[in-house]
Amino acid sequence: MAVTTQQLIRYKQQGRRIVALTAWDYLIAQVLDQSGVDVILVGDSLAMVALGYETTIPLTLEEILHHAKAVRRAVKNALLVMDLPFLSYQEDPIQAMRSAGRALKEAGVQAVKLEGGYPEMAETVRRLVQAGIPVMGHVGLTPQSVHQFGGFRKQGTSPETAARIFSEAIALQEAGAFSIILEHIPADLAAQITEKLTIPTIGIGAGEQCDGQVLVTSDLLGMGEWQPPFAKKYANLRETIGQAVQRYGEEVRGVEG
Ligand code: KIV
Repeated sequence: MAVTTQQLIRYKQQGRRIVALTAWDYLIAQVLDQSGVDVILVGDSLAMVALGYETTIPLTLEEILHHAKAVRRAVKNALLVMDLPFLSYQEDPIQAMRSAGRALKEAGVQAVKLEGGYPEMAETVRRLVQAGIPVMGHVGLTPQSVHQFGGFRKQGTSPETAARIFSEAIALQEAGAFSIILEHIPADLAAQITEKLTIPTIGIGAGEQCDGQVLVTSDLLGMGEWQPPFAKKYANLRETIGQAVQRYGEEVRGVEG
């Protein structure tokens, strides 16, 4: 049966961990969906892993919609969530509504994700949820703020920033978010947030106590030249693909003309 936002909340109540991964094209999405992943996120990390940008900041709504449509064609079971790119939702709730509306109407995703939990963002989440648009929050290291953080650094390491992240997570739940990503924060902070919230937390570089885990799929598969220190590699596809291409090249060149 296809995964729903309500199902994820039940998974938390049952203590069943949520498995989430990112996808940016049809083939990857099809493999993930057929392998039993609960949540497939068309993350704005596609800016870096599929489009070669240095950060997620340049990604446009048109670009991510294009990828989300391809992923939609593949996904039959997982809950499909799309990131709203930088400056497609921060202006005001109306801008957020227009962008999220396009994600649901044009790409057919079931929910959107946006970064930040400060009061204005919680208000935006409230308005989207009131309009019937399910929202996943994202706090801690929010990559769209990379320049404000001075790099992709761990967040919540001081008592003040930990308290801010904790209160942002509560504000997002109160605004109606159905789940929250906790990225690159101390494990004990993630555990406290997970304990406090009734909606599921999905961690990335946030320890083992979250209600679920998410990874960028190209990190899981070992496809990139670099990956964050907290991202475990479950395969080394970069090497496997390189070797296959070399073998192919040797065979092609080895045939006498
Ligand atoms: O864009 C993305 O891939 C994400 C994950 C890091 C959760 O937001």
